[in-house]
Amino acid sequence: MTGYLDGKNIVVTGAGNGIGRAIALGCAAEGANVVVADFGVSLHGEDPSSDVADAVVAEIAASGGTAVALASDISTMEGGAAAVQAAVDTWGSIDGAVCVAGILRERMIFNMTEEEFDDVIRVHLKGHFTVYKHASAIMRKQETGGSLVGVTSGAFTGSTSQANYAAAKGGIISLTKSAALALKRYGVNANCIAPSARTRMSENVPFEIEAGEPEDVAPLAVYLLSDAARDITAQVYTVVGPRISVWAQFGEVRSMFAPDLTSWTPEGIQEALPRTIGTEEHPTMALLEQQAAQRQAAAQANT
Ligand SMILES: NC(=O)c1ccc[n+]([C@@H]2O[C@H](COP(=O)([O-])OP(=O)(O)OC[C@H]3O[C@@H](n4cnc5c(N)ncnc54)[C@H](O)[C@@H]3O)[C@@H](O)[C@H]2O)c1
Repeated sequence: MTGYLDGKNIVVTGAGNGIGRAIALGCAAEGANVVVADFGVSLHGEDPSSDVADAVVAEIAASGGTAVALASDISTMEGGAAAVQAAVDTWGSIDGAVCVAGILRERMIFNMTEEEFDDVIRVHLKGHFTVYKHASAIMRKQETGGSLVGVTSGAFTGSTSQANYAAAKGGIISLTKSAALALKRYGVNANCIAPSARTRMSENVPFEIEAGEPEDVAPLAVYLLSDAARDITAQVYTVVGPRISVWAQFGEVRSMFAPDLTSWTPEGIQEALPRTIGTEEHPTMALLEQQAAQRQAAAQANT
């Protein structure tokens, strides 16, 4: 029997829990050799341990698959290089990398510390760079192409108490699209998945969200890693339960030009902007207004 990823050597970061674990198991079930790279930290990024990576490798081995564990911190250049090198040292090459590792440090922006901001950017955004950089350098030399898969979130469009996380997730999209453009000529594709799944990371979201299971995310990752998807690049796909959606490429939607193509004045903009190009409402604004109305109603009920 042949698998969809037979013979491919794949690194999955954050593979010890949640979505990363499901992707690692999914890749192994489809015949890939998998580096299970996970620092084994808490949701906030504390108390590292090799236990979760070892446990997932044992699970893969028990079902007849091939995997090695690596408890490295992928937010460091050494950690990202070690994850990629583990595939090369063990199986001779690297064909794909999926960057799933992540932490949360939620707080309103006016209370957020520099450390909370830096740590989240480091693990998510730099954690993609460390792996993409080392993987793409080797893929380019191998001349057999390859696949990079980043993990973003719908939160990249803005998230009330997650400015650090939203900024990191937006950066991951820009980083991945840049990698897609730079690596096209080497046969390496790069895409992002924006998942929503029930894990320890999503269990404390303070409002109702559409969520599936981690296992729902694995088939899309497996497909994007395969030769069948090599022409698909610079894309962002949401996956939640049975739904997969593609995001629009970013672009300007409407323009206005200064009279006689001279320069705008603030007064001229004040007059023209609202009635010509206007604004694009943020999709979360309606929810914020609804929450404000609920708070007001509750306050009135208490008086
Ligand atoms: N769960 C969701 O609904 C959801 C929604 C949008 C995006 N995401 C993203 O999906 C990814 C996985 O989330 P999850 O819900 O499975 O979370 P999770 O907490 O279950 O798993 C994250 C894993 O990353 C590992 N990790 C953290 N820092 C690391 C580091 N420096 N080096 C190596 N490994 C490290 C952790 O040990 C953990 O095993 C994250 O990037 C998250 O932002 C999740």
